Amino acid sequence: MKIYPAPMEGVTGYVFRQVYREMFGGVDGYFTPFLTPAEKRVLRGKERREIDPEFNPVDMTVPQILTDDPDKFLKMCLLLTDLGYTEVNLNAGCPSQTVTGKNRGSGMLKDPAALDRFFDRLFTEKEHYPEEPVRSLRISVKTRLGMEDPEEFRGILPIYNRYPLCEVIIHPRVKKEFYNGTPHMDAFEEAFYNSLHPVCYNGDIWTLEDYERLTERFPTLDRIMIGRGLVADPSLVRRIRGGDPMTIPEYREFSDRLLDGYIESMQNETNAMMRMKEAWLYMGRQFDVTERELKKIYKAKNKAEYLIAREGVLAAGLK
Ligand SMILES: Cc1cc2nc3c(=O)[nH]c(=O)nc-3n(C[C@H](O)[C@H](O)[C@H](O)COP(=O)(O)O)c2cc1C
Repeated sequence: MKIYPAPMEGVTGYVFRQVYREMFGGVDGYFTPFLTPAEKRVLRGKERREIDPEFNPVDMTVPQILTDDPDKFLKMCLLLTDLGYTEVNLNAGCPSQTVTGKNRGSGMLKDPAALDRFFDRLFTEKEHYPEEPVRSLRISVKTRLGMEDPEEFRGILPIYNRYPLCEVIIHPRVKKEFYNGTPHMDAFEEAFYNSLHPVCYNGDIWTLEDYERLTERFPTLDRIMIGRGLVADPSLVRRIRGGDPMTIPEYREFSDRLLDGYIESMQNETNAMMRMKEAWLYMGRQFDVTERELKKIYKAKNKAEYLIAREGVLAAGLK
């Protein structure tokens, strides 16, 4: 089984991926959170570090691009191939209003004819691109089922099938659901068996049992992507591969290394703390604590307060 950590803006940036890789690894590739090509410079400073080969294993990292403009997409591809990347991913899943309002992310699924035109232009231009590395770049897509209704995917999948994508990662929810409710497994099943491309499943794998239920239902599924579940329990892939569950000392080391990484990268303790709070939003679920005790982490104003609150959570023990 190929397993990828999911891209999560504000959570699984390069610092997280680096610490995760050093302490756990065991995955088959990493995706960056979405990068949006800007009007003038292709990438802003912060985004550059997401793909800087100094902080990322280029051969294992897939940069994700968020745009509905094929020309901007290709411009970004040129920059990425110059850095050595050989695969990129199109974000067709982000449900945020600010993104879908510009017809990006899951907003690309509003109008299948426009999606078709996007790919037609993208792949036509790519085929004739002057730089060879762009011509041979692999492109995958990470998609939801639609905007309002899972059945919309019946009009979307034939479009994906028409273009030479290397992988279709499906998070079987629609835009209006954000991250609520449960994934539409019947719609996923239909997509899985009708896709001409390799399909990767993504959504609500929190535990080993979730993983086992999924693979029982889809014995031929050979790739999955895990987001929130892997932040909550960074040992989840190790457990899936037959290893031990996460220990308290590992949570302490993991969160220490994350914090140090964020402080070094942001040069600002307050901002680094914000990032830690995002991570604890998920990791906190694993501990036998009340919401009040967890909130002490979210409310910590500096590193000293944070460390005291964190020890309180660790002392409560795992559920
Ligand atoms: C805080 C947050 C940020 C996310 N950022 C991205 C992103 O940048 N690109 C993307 O494709 N998906 C993003 N997602 C969606 C996840 O990659 C994933 O599809 C979703 O969380 C469902 O998988 P899970 O149930 O395993 O978490 C984000 C999700 C969350 C909760």
